[in-house]
Amino acid sequence: MNKLVRAKISALGTYVPPRVMTNRDFEKIVETSDEWIVSRTGIRERHIVDKGVATSDLAVEAAKAALAERGMGPDGIEAIVVATVTPDMLFPSTACLVQHKLGTKGAWGFDLSAACSAFLFGLQTGAQFVATGTHRKVLVIGADVMSSILDYTDRATCILFGDGAGAVILEPAEDDSGIFDFVHEIDGAGACSLYMPGGGSLHPSTHETVDKKMHYVHQDGQSVFKFAVKKMAEVCETLLTRNNVKASDIDCFIPHQANQRIIQATADRLGLRPESVIINIDRYGNTTAGTIPLAMQTAREDGRLKRGDLVLLASVGAGFTVGATLLRWTI
Ligand SMILES: CC(C)(COP(=O)(O)OP(=O)(O)OC[C@H]1O[C@@H](n2cnc3c(N)ncnc32)[C@H](O)[C@@H]1OP(=O)(O)O)[C@@H](O)C(=O)NCCC(=O)NCCS
Repeated sequence: MNKLVRAKISALGTYVPPRVMTNRDFEKIVETSDEWIVSRTGIRERHIVDKGVATSDLAVEAAKAALAERGMGPDGIEAIVVATVTPDMLFPSTACLVQHKLGTKGAWGFDLSAACSAFLFGLQTGAQFVATGTHRKVLVIGADVMSSILDYTDRATCILFGDGAGAVILEPAEDDSGIFDFVHEIDGAGACSLYMPGGGSLHPSTHETVDKKMHYVHQDGQSVFKFAVKKMAEVCETLLTRNNVKASDIDCFIPHQANQRIIQATADRLGLRPESVIINIDRYGNTTAGTIPLAMQTAREDGRLKRGDLVLLASVGAGFTVGATLLRWTI
C-alpha cells in the first residue's frame, strides 16, 4: 500500500449551452409567473441545449477548458469520472464517449450516478485514486442535460432545472492543501421523492411507459425540500465539528444549487458569513451534477474564491444522496 497523499484541484473548466430560457419564456408554456419562480426558487433563467446536443458534448467542452487552464493536452489524463444522471445512452458510459471525443489515450473511466450529489461523490472517488498513489491526474466531470428528462407541461418540475457541466483535474497536493475530509450518505427511503421511473430494468420503455410520462422527472417537491434543509446542514456540521473548523472560518461555501431557500436555510443554520455563500442559481437553475463546479467558477469570477481559501462544498440530491467536502483551494 502506498502512503496516502492528499488530492488537490489543479484546474477547473465549465460550460453551459448558449441558449437561455427565462422565467418569462415559461410563462408562455405553463401556468406560472416570473414572480412565483423567483420567490420560491431564486431562479431567473437557465441554459438549455439545442436538439442533438448531449451530456457528453457539454462534458467535453468543460473538460477542454480545464485542460487548457492546466496547460496540458488530453493524453496525461489517467482516469475520467463522469458524474451524471442524464448519460447520452444507458450504455456505453458517457465517460467512454468523452474519452473518445477528447482523444485521451490510455485513460480508463466510468459514469457515476448520484444525481445532485454526483459531483461530490465523483470528486471523492477521483481523490481516492490520487490518494493511494495509483493515479496522478484524474478528470472529474459533472454534466447533465436535464432538459432531456423534463416534462415541459409540469410546472412544478420543468422550471427548476437547466443544462450545464463542470470539470476539474485532480492531482497530488505537495503540501497540506487540497481535499482533506468528506461526509457522504445515501438514504434509499427517499427514492420515490425524486426519480425517473421509466426506461430502466424495472419499467423498460414501452408505449405505455411513455404515455404515462415515466421517462420524465417526478418529484414530491416538499419532501425533497424538507430533507434537503435538514440534511445539508447536518452533514456540514458533522464535517466542521470533526475538523475543528468554525463556520466563521469558512471562506467560501459552495452548495448544490437546487433552491435559494435551501441554501439560505443551510447557511443560516450553520452560521456562515453571508459573504462566503455562493449562489448562482438565478443564472443556471439546477444543473444537477453541474451546479458545484459552475458555482466554483462563479465564485472565482467574482473574486470570492482564491488560492488558500477554506472551502465547504455541500449537496443533497435524488436517492437520497448527501455529501459535504472540506478543502483548501489550490488554484
Ligand atoms: C418545487 C418547489 C419550488 C415548490 O415550492 P413549494 O413552495 O413547495 O410549492 P408546493 O409544491 O407546495 O406548491 C404550492 C402551489 O404552487 C403550485 N406550483 C407549483 N409549481 C408552480 C409554478 N412553476 N408556478 C406557479 N405555481 C406553481 C402548485 O401547484 C401548488 O398549487 P396548489 O396549492 O393550487 O396545489 C419546492 O418544493 C422545492 O424547491 N422543493 C425542492 C426541489 C428540489 O430542490 N429538487 C432538486 C433536489 S436536488
